[in-house]
Amino acid sequence: MDRSVSVEAEPPVAPASVHVVPPECFAEAGARVVAGEIRGRLETRASCSVALAGGSTPRPVYRRLAELEGIDWSRVEVFFGDERAVPPTDPDSNVRMAREALLARVPVPEHRQHRIPAEGADLEEAARAYARSLPAALDLLLLGIGEDGHTASLFPGSGAVGDRERRVVAVEAPASPARRITITPPVIQEARSVVVLASGERKASAVAEALEGAGPVEGCPARLARGGRWVLDAAAAAELEATRRAGEDG
Ligand code: 6PG
Repeated sequence: MDRSVSVEAEPPVAPASVHVVPPECFAEAGARVVAGEIRGRLETRASCSVALAGGSTPRPVYRRLAELEGIDWSRVEVFFGDERAVPPTDPDSNVRMAREALLARVPVPEHRQHRIPAEGADLEEAARAYARSLPAALDLLLLGIGEDGHTASLFPGSGAVGDRERRVVAVEAPASPARRITITPPVIQEARSVVVLASGERKASAVAEALEGAGPVEGCPARLARGGRWVLDAAAAAELEATRRAGEDG
């Protein structure tokens, strides 16, 4: 499974751009930020590669995103930041959530939808194959954050958080389902744009640690996305310094 390597000090990154909105505006705000990133990329490029986040937070954002106008979905290439080792029809599957909330409702061509095939027996080989399918740099990477500060399936203390050699790895997560495939830090750091979506008071401590903490990335892997655009509802932003809580949308 994942190999332990030393966790280098992360290079300083520009302060994050933090959008704080009332809970009832979170889906709209998240959808508009993501749509703006995709539209912006498609103004100057033939296509836009987007890696979707899993979990439950993105679901309302994806539903609203599917309703927004002005995105040429035929030119969007869809990837995933991580996947659980379950069939794509399983309620725990990230691709199932994304299909229900977004991909079944927008015209992304089948050949441009790249799910992580994590349901097989050989997760390491599946991870290697998926790494080969990823672009050198994603145009847009969507991430969530767990209460423990994990992002994608990079969990605190996991050797994968220090892996700078491989771009996709199989891991054993301390959360169910345990067996997963995840992108590694280089993919996060190479992405042209990163958008982190977090809502609810349960995330407030992890969000504050990721954006304002000083500890090693190994203890709070979501800190890898510190330089990205964070879309937070007021509950998830509750433990940030007051200045940040004002946010750009406050
Ligand atoms: C996953 C996600 C993971 C998720 C966080 C938050 O596969 O679970 O990639 O990183 O974003 O666990 O999950 P919720 O949005 O369900 O709180």
